[in-house]
Amino acid sequence: MKGYFITFEGPDGSGKTTQINLLKEYLIKKGYDILVTREPGGTPISEAIREIILDTKYEEMNPVTEMLLYAASRAQHVAQLIKPALAQGKIVLCDRFVDSSIAYQGVGRNLGIEIVEEINKVALQGIVPDLTLFFDIDPEIGLKRGMGRGRKADRLELEDIAFHKKVYQGFCMLCSRYPDRFKRINAEADIQEIHYQIINEIEQLSRYGK
Ligand code: TYD
Repeated sequence: MKGYFITFEGPDGSGKTTQINLLKEYLIKKGYDILVTREPGGTPISEAIREIILDTKYEEMNPVTEMLLYAASRAQHVAQLIKPALAQGKIVLCDRFVDSSIAYQGVGRNLGIEIVEEINKVALQGIVPDLTLFFDIDPEIGLKRGMGRGRKADRLELEDIAFHKKVYQGFCMLCSRYPDRFKRINAEADIQEIHYQIINEIEQLSRYGK
């Protein structure tokens, strides 16, 4: 049995979490076995690494350290949670995955996409998303929305707008690099409309027997 791996990517505050929950309900009603998880996080070790990465007190964190910590968190997440769930035939919905490392560390932090891909190879154990939904929203709108949620900004969100625009360009580059896997969702639409766009992408997959 082989499961199905769907990842959700996009700028901060693009509304991924709300949509993951709506999609989860939709798929459960259809009788599927669903696992919802997130990066960085998903396992106790990965969540502990998340605390270090996002803590605003570590302003001095070197970009390479940051890349390696995301990859370390991912290695545990893949080995302990994602790979076993897919082997059990589950549909895994994951809030961010390796494409975030390419956009944020590879492009945003200027480390280069090749090095980020290379480092992550060992963490991924050959696991590639079957479908990646890119939540396309102007990063300025996303950041404002995020701040409106009332919680404190994390270390990455505190970066300036120039950084977030670069990250956005990184995601756009990934869309053209992997057109079969990456699907663009207009995340500036309202909640219900975004949900329909996502369902439409999922239905297209089942139509083609993927
Ligand atoms: P997340 O909690 O998903 O933030 P949000 O809810 O705003 O989408 O992710 C935390 C931050 O970590 C976010 O700013 C994106 C960043 N990130 C990376 O820089 N590289 C990565 O590999 C991942 C998974 C996340």
